Amino acid sequence: MDASLVYREDKGVTKLVPLYPPVKRNKFLDANEPLPKYTMAEVAKHSTQNDCWIVLDKRAYNITSFIARHPGGVGPITNMAGKDATDVFANYHAARVYRVMLPAYLVGEVTDVPEYPHVADFRAAHFNKASLKLTIRTTPSSAVGLRRFFSLRSRFPLVSSGAVD
Ligand code: HEM
Repeated sequence: MDASLVYREDKGVTKLVPLYPPVKRNKFLDANEPLPKYTMAEVAKHSTQNDCWIVLDKRAYNITSFIARHPGGVGPITNMAGKDATDVFANYHAARVYRVMLPAYLVGEVTDVPEYPHVADFRAAHFNKASLKLTIRTTPSSAVGLRRFFSLRSRFPLVSSGAVD
């Protein structure tokens, strides 16, 4: 699959969208300059509610000023402060959040984000088009219908086993 594209939910539909939205000028960087480079060790220095960076898809964001306004609360963010939050973030946020909200907080790219084998596996299962097709093909509608029939039948049996007076 093209590495510059990623599956994300957009208005209720899972779509292939650009991995990175266009870089915009913000209070941390000038969009005409190359992105500043950081290491995970530098990101880790910003790990509190009052100074909070996170890493998403190998890019660092300074989200300190946003934490208090986060619709998901302070806790989920401070747990990930100073760390790579790529996967947990992807689980809770739609394409719109990446496109519209994140560019204001971008500070640069991170050169040494590790990808552990179990994480690589998880990402392949989620973002690989071939596996997505396989999931759809192995559950044709007739199979779904049959499964639903049997699960309803066990919840609402035609012959009741209870006592009838
Ligand atoms: C480590 C970083 C973050 C984590 C772990 C996190 C986690 C969460 C969680 C658990 C929710 C609640 C989801 C729900 O109840 O349905 C949420 C909602 C939300 N978050 Fe985050 N968040 C993070 C960072 C951010 C950032 C940086 C932004 C924007 C710049 C953001 C924007 C939002 C928005 C807009 C919602 C509401 C989404 C909706 O209702 O559709 N979050 N987040």
